[in-house]
Amino acid sequence: MNDSHSNALVFFGATGDLAYKKIFPALQAMAKRGHLNVPVIGVAKAGWNLDQLRARAHDSLEKHGGINPAAFEKLCGLLRYVDGDYKEPATFQSLRKELGSAQQPAHYLAIPPVLFGMVVEQLAKAGCTNGARVIIEKPFGHDLPSAQNLNQTLLGTFDEKTIFRIDHYLGKRPVHNMLFFRFANAFLEPFWNRNHIESVQITMAEDFGIQGRGAFYDQTGAIRDVVQNHLFQVLANLTMEPPVRTDSESIRDEKVKVLRAIPPLEPRNVVRGQFRGYRNENGVAPNSQVETFAALQLEIDSWRWRGVPFYIRAGKSLPVTCTEVLVQLHQPPTMYQGFDLKPNYCRFRISPDVTLAFGLNVLAPAEDSDESVELLASHHPGADEMDAYERVLGDAMAGDASLFAREDYVEEAWRIVDPVLKAGTPVYGYEPSSWGPREVEERVLPVGGWHNPTVAG
Ligand code: BG6
Repeated sequence: MNDSHSNALVFFGATGDLAYKKIFPALQAMAKRGHLNVPVIGVAKAGWNLDQLRARAHDSLEKHGGINPAAFEKLCGLLRYVDGDYKEPATFQSLRKELGSAQQPAHYLAIPPVLFGMVVEQLAKAGCTNGARVIIEKPFGHDLPSAQNLNQTLLGTFDEKTIFRIDHYLGKRPVHNMLFFRFANAFLEPFWNRNHIESVQITMAEDFGIQGRGAFYDQTGAIRDVVQNHLFQVLANLTMEPPVRTDSESIRDEKVKVLRAIPPLEPRNVVRGQFRGYRNENGVAPNSQVETFAALQLEIDSWRWRGVPFYIRAGKSLPVTCTEVLVQLHQPPTMYQGFDLKPNYCRFRISPDVTLAFGLNVLAPAEDSDESVELLASHHPGADEMDAYERVLGDAMAGDASLFAREDYVEEAWRIVDPVLKAGTPVYGYEPSSWGPREVEERVLPVGGWHNPTVAG
């Protein structure tokens, strides 16, 4: 394997939505930090020239984070553009020419997955894959068989060590902090198991709808969009065993192991919902059965976790935008009769702010009463975090695979959700700005109820 830094970044889908919202801001941030010093070649079929791509980058940055004049100028100096159809060998010959002496490019496929196979094949034919890395966007397949096919296609050309499957949640520092916090401290370990933990809830709430992504979303749904990938990564960080070393493979081995211990989801443990009005969105089928909300319960059948229920909930058009984890401990023995003791908990908020807190019972100032307080371990606005895309792109170009999903991990994650994707369970309506369909309260309900995060206005 080649450990050196990629000496060019090629991004397919240069005129698309992802480039506009995420990639240009990440590239400018890398340039600002002095981390981008190689040609950046956009590829698309738009009939554009380089000036038009630069104008698009300008527009993107104005809307997403603002222009930093020096970094933008640096980025513009590095930008190149190749226009052409992905079906045409000529497009890839032009790319080969543009790459010049860059023998170790990173090819970032920010394009619909149906095009991955074709692009990879064309890259290989044009001699653009020797010494190269490939960066793939999620969703990685749409079920287990399609993910396996996709893996086979990629592995036909690239070695697993040169394939970087993006899950941008892994690039979020607070998601990484869950691992750091667990394994950089000793006090947590004695209670981080089935003997003390009663249940775990993970909520990813978004107070907006599908933001014009109807065509994509209606083929995807909440389980494929965020549960199988982002929230399973959060789950893995919370539950994996300590890795024996800190290299990427040792860490990823532990993540795969914990997923292997999760039995396939049972349809009866899942409630799917759809916000009212979703079917009127552009690109959405008038009778769509696709979920914009999912709540589910799963188990981890391992020594550490057997018997602890894990609840995961994700949805669009909910009351707030917030991703939060609540690890609830068993109720303390009731030697204090007459007091309203609450179970202790550990709360990790990943966004919008970053919080790590513990819920405790203490005596209140008033006689004979108690109160629940939070011991705040850490809290900050989160705004200064390095953007996830900047981090994952930089890591992929540097060849560090720790923050990327490995083939076996992705396939395990599909194995777990596949039965539910195929079961055709009912999709229940819910009002926008509510916490999902009422069936959740009947079917997927943690002891003590769901903890609904609130966000300061
Ligand atoms: C994306 C999903 O992967 O993650 C979106 O496709 C979702 O539907 C987004 O809104 C959430 O990511 P973030 O970083 O904005 O919280």
